[in-house]
Amino acid sequence: MRIDILTILPQLLDGPFSDSILKRAQEKNLVEIHLHNIRDYSTHRQKSVDDYQYGGGAGMVMTIQPIADCIAKLKSERDYDEIIYMTPDGDLLKQTICNELSLKENIIILCGHYKGVDQRVRDLFITREISIGSYVLSGGELGAAVLVDSIVRLLPGVLSDETSALTDSFQDNLLAPPVYTRPEDYNGHKVPDILLSGHTEKIEEWRAEQSIKRTQERRPDLLD
Ligand code: ADE
Repeated sequence: MRIDILTILPQLLDGPFSDSILKRAQEKNLVEIHLHNIRDYSTHRQKSVDDYQYGGGAGMVMTIQPIADCIAKLKSERDYDEIIYMTPDGDLLKQTICNELSLKENIIILCGHYKGVDQRVRDLFITREISIGSYVLSGGELGAAVLVDSIVRLLPGVLSDETSALTDSFQDNLLAPPVYTRPEDYNGHKVPDILLSGHTEKIEEWRAEQSIKRTQERRPDLLD
């Protein structure tokens, strides 16, 4: 899989992609992540990437020219399955969207800033708009990092235990059950006996019950 990210702050994304699972996935050539500085594509004499809004009002708008030129260059090199715009008014990110996107070959993610991008960018190029939650971030970069992480961990070979992504919360619309590790007894707080019993089937049954119970208590909307 190849992911191209268009941003005016590429340095903001260096950190999240150069550690842990995302770093290893790139080292194993399971994903290529390329950061593109939108400013590099600006033909403006001062390399500006934003301008005042038509109609007046506070806040700048990202201009179409550098974004369009960057997208055109990428599209001339390969086909893209999706061009995603990170925005608080997009579709709320859910596990089903992550699963779907993890099957794509090439995607572009555009990060907005200020008041967002000129509407014509959205009309002409964007195939999907995604929000990571009902709150406003200062830019799309942190949202893009969340989106990339949630997709890349699903790629075959990325997680060392192949089954572990399948038992995550939200796969099957259920939250994950509680988990325990050593010690068996922490100041009188004990691990449930069933987990020490060695009965694989009973343990699976208990985990399924706990998943449903936790979902009913915390996220009943998932059961609808
Ligand atoms: N950009 C600003 N706020 C955002 C959000 N909630 N999700 C995705 N991108 C954003």
